[in-house]
Amino acid sequence: MINQLTAQFKERYDTQPEARAFAPGRINLIGEHTDYNGGYVFPAAIALGTYGVASKRQDKEIHLYSNNFESVGELVFSLEDLSFKTDHDWGNYVKGMIAYLIEDYPDINTGMNILIEGNIPNGASLSSSASLEMLSGWLVKSLFDLSVDRLQLIHLGQRVENQFIGVNSGIMDQFIVGMGAKDHALLLDTATLEYHEVPAQFGDYVISIMNTNKRRSLTESKYNERRAECETALEELQHHLDIQSLGELSVETFEANAHYITSDTNRRRARHAVTENQRTKDAYQALQHDDFTTFGQLLNASHESLKEDYEVTGQELDTLAETAQQVEGVLGARMTGAGFAGCAIALVHKDSIEQLETDVTTAYVERIGYEPSFYHVSIGDGVKNL
Ligand code: GLA
Repeated sequence: MINQLTAQFKERYDTQPEARAFAPGRINLIGEHTDYNGGYVFPAAIALGTYGVASKRQDKEIHLYSNNFESVGELVFSLEDLSFKTDHDWGNYVKGMIAYLIEDYPDINTGMNILIEGNIPNGASLSSSASLEMLSGWLVKSLFDLSVDRLQLIHLGQRVENQFIGVNSGIMDQFIVGMGAKDHALLLDTATLEYHEVPAQFGDYVISIMNTNKRRSLTESKYNERRAECETALEELQHHLDIQSLGELSVETFEANAHYITSDTNRRRARHAVTENQRTKDAYQALQHDDFTTFGQLLNASHESLKEDYEVTGQELDTLAETAQQVEGVLGARMTGAGFAGCAIALVHKDSIEQLETDVTTAYVERIGYEPSFYHVSIGDGVKNL
């Protein structure tokens, strides 16, 4: 992919790229909607991702082209006007990163050409946007030799998402895209940003990714709504408990105080955040002991909680996860990422992959009317030069 992009870049811009990079997508094993609640997450970077090549220009123009958005065509704007523009579409993620980098690094003083191509299915909850943010940050860092480090880029990426794009997402996606390590998942405490790498090895079992292929809609507004519901629940609890986030609560303390949350809906949202945090810690322990059966059961419990308490699954994700859970050789399955559409994951014995795909496809087509897709990808590195 990178060689073909390099050749295409030479042809398009009549010069060699000075920077070449790759940023992965991600799956989250468990710990969903816990990252903006000060809890644990357990994501892994995947071998699918976004490739980019870039060079500096003599003038102040930024030229962006993505092979994934041919119909949008080449986007051209000036280094001096990096404001959000709806018709700049995918380019706003790149623009946002440059706009925020320039605040701290005035050495970014010329325009640039950037050519991009990704193989993360779009809108599949595999973090194609965080991948694009981190890739563009990395390319600009390389082009201008900036001293910005991974963690700073991660924070900038989250800020682009929150302030430039308007999704109040947590830090998980940018963090794993920035810090991912081959064959490892990261157990990240989002309250402190302490993390450790955990070998993502499941014996005879592998992670299968199942895509609903459903077009996402309303995801952003519903995402922001869930976050606000958790914040309201936290505020009510704070009148009685000395806590900064829901992630500080044990399940027992939460249950003993849950009645202080006045809305039944908000109480269920908070219950998910607290129980999911506990499941994530338990899943880490299970993996430490090669106890894949317990790990799988925690995946199932996570899906159930995201369905009943958090209400972010929907018929498509439920059909994928719940059908997969019934297949012999599957230890557990759950949605991954923000939810509403996108992907689910299953922990499946390597001899049962075909069975999983057949059973899930049959049930999905019957209930939903079109086919899901399946991916088996290795766990790879975070953003890097190529
Ligand atoms: C999206 C967000 C993340 C996280 C997940 C849900 O991927 O970008 O910050 O909140 O949803 O766990």
